[in-house]
Amino acid sequence: MKLLWSVGVLLLSCWRANAATAPTIIADPIEVNNQTSATLSCNLTDTTLVVKGSHWTHNGKIIEKSESTAPDHHTVLHLDKITHSSGGKYECVFLSDPVVQQTIEVKTIPHVAAYKHSEHGNERDKGVMVCVSHSYPLPTDWNWYKEQDGIQMPIINGTNDKYEIKSTPNKTTLTISDLSIEDDVGDYTCAGTSVIGTSTDKIHLRVRSRLAALWPFLGIVAEVIILVTIILIYEKRRKPDEITDDDDSGSAPLKSNSTANHKDKNVRQRNSN
Ligand SMILES: *[C@@H]1O[C@H](CO)[C@@H](O)[C@H](O)[C@H]1NC(C)=O
Ligand SMILES: *[C@@H]1O[C@H](CO)[C@@H](O)[C@H](O)[C@H]1NC(C)=O
Ligand SMILES: *[C@@H]1O[C@H](CO)[C@@H](O)[C@H](O)[C@H]1NC(C)=O
Repeated sequence: MKLLWSVGVLLLSCWRANAATAPTIIADPIEVNNQTSATLSCNLTDTTLVVKGSHWTHNGKIIEKSESTAPDHHTVLHLDKITHSSGGKYECVFLSDPVVQQTIEVKTIPHVAAYKHSEHGNERDKGVMVCVSHSYPLPTDWNWYKEQDGIQMPIINGTNDKYEIKSTPNKTTLTISDLSIEDDVGDYTCAGTSVIGTSTDKIHLRVRSRLAALWPFLGIVAEVIILVTIILIYEKRRKPDEITDDDDSGSAPLKSNSTANHKDKNVRQRNSN
């Protein structure tokens, strides 16, 4: 019973999908792949529909110069210079009742760009490099390479716990841990691949020595040491006087008269000096 019900629902949804996509518009071409220019055209085959105008959209936004109030059942759009920013979903829209429309996909090679072309990290610390893509379609695969003696060596995710690659369709991040000046300085390449092709970009990684990172701190430490030394030397030179003074004030009442007298003599002698 449950199975019959499911089959029924399935058949019904197929039939409805068919009805919705019934070709009242013939698009030519259906898809543009990696071309530098193209002419998109749509023909509304249902001649009984009254058309009050038409326009095209790009990724959902109306292309103003394509807006027309002519009652034509035919519309074309010229794309002169196709770049990654002109790729995406185009739609021809006929203003009839109901409004009918048809999508044409314009696909370009992935546009891959490094977030920064020069990155740096501190020795023993982490280095992070990022590449993004905005093209249509987005890359389905991301890869990273390190240039060694002119050869692009693939970087494998997770190798020795040193490299970590994290990717989404529009972004890839390479994290290198425990940076070393000898091994990690150099040129890295990110590559994004879609069904149309592959594009790359390059990032130069610099690694600062740990000492260089510590310089400002060491400077402060040195300053403090010098200051403390100066103060200690100064204090040491003053010390003999201060001890006598302390004795005079602190312990005098406890001492016998004779000692006090003796001391007074000392003080007097010192004063006369
Ligand atoms: C669309 O219509 C125009 C004019 O009506 C015709 O010249 C053209 O061949 C048609 N194109 C397609 C793909 O049907
Ligand atoms: C790389 O490995 C990490 C940790 O194992 C994982 O989270 C990440 O998804 C992997 N990246 C790719 C691109 O497979
Ligand atoms: C990447 O895609 C996600 C989700 O699709 C979006 O939120 C984010 O803004 C996109 N990032 C870039 C750099 O385009």
